[in-house]
Amino acid sequence: MDDTLIISDCHAPYNHRDTLAFIRAAKEELGLEKAKSVGDIVDNHSSSFHDLEYGTLSAREEYLAAKDFCQELSEIYPEMTISIGNHCKMTERKANKAMIPLDHIKSYNDIYGVNWKWVDHDWFKVDRYNWCMMTHAMSVNTLTNAKTHSHHSIQGHHHGTFGIQYFADKSVLRWSLTAGCLINPDSPAFNYSKGNTNNRPIVGMAAIIADTPILIPMKLTKSGRWDKRI
Ligand SMILES: [Fe+2]
Repeated sequence: MDDTLIISDCHAPYNHRDTLAFIRAAKEELGLEKAKSVGDIVDNHSSSFHDLEYGTLSAREEYLAAKDFCQELSEIYPEMTISIGNHCKMTERKANKAMIPLDHIKSYNDIYGVNWKWVDHDWFKVDRYNWCMMTHAMSVNTLTNAKTHSHHSIQGHHHGTFGIQYFADKSVLRWSLTAGCLINPDSPAFNYSKGNTNNRPIVGMAAIIADTPILIPMKLTKSGRWDKRI
């Protein structure tokens, strides 16, 4: 397959402030002309099913900032497949709960002014022998994914998990990748996970290069900014 950047959960506009520069640099330095997203590209905190956190944006401010983020990202990657995340789906989940027909809801592309492909499961061929299934959320244990599926797997959702595991038997070598996240860990939008100090968000993303997964951690300075190295 073509070398491809795997963009982790961004949760715009509560993404890490260096996210777009980091993505642009990875594209240029690693020669990644294609990209896929594991979903949760936007957060939609203002329409969450949970209580709103003090210090987050109003619904309109949040929407406009998320739209700006998506449009800037689509200048870097005009064509991208997104494995729809639970946060991307917030509008349709709310509509569903209110029994509003989904035909009355705008498409994601119309909402954010982009031209991406949004899917629940992204199936693609990695090499002559192996397929990969990318989806937003699977088992937190990536080894379980590799063992129980007859394909490689990629997932997001688990912000504090950042790794690649391999499973092999006599005839099979399979990998499973969990991509971390590109959130701002200090945003109040993530207060729900702050009590879990053993599983802090890991800021980074991943790529498939020469049909093999790699991790691209965002190395942070003491002040929490990206250190500008890939
Ligand atoms: Fe997420």
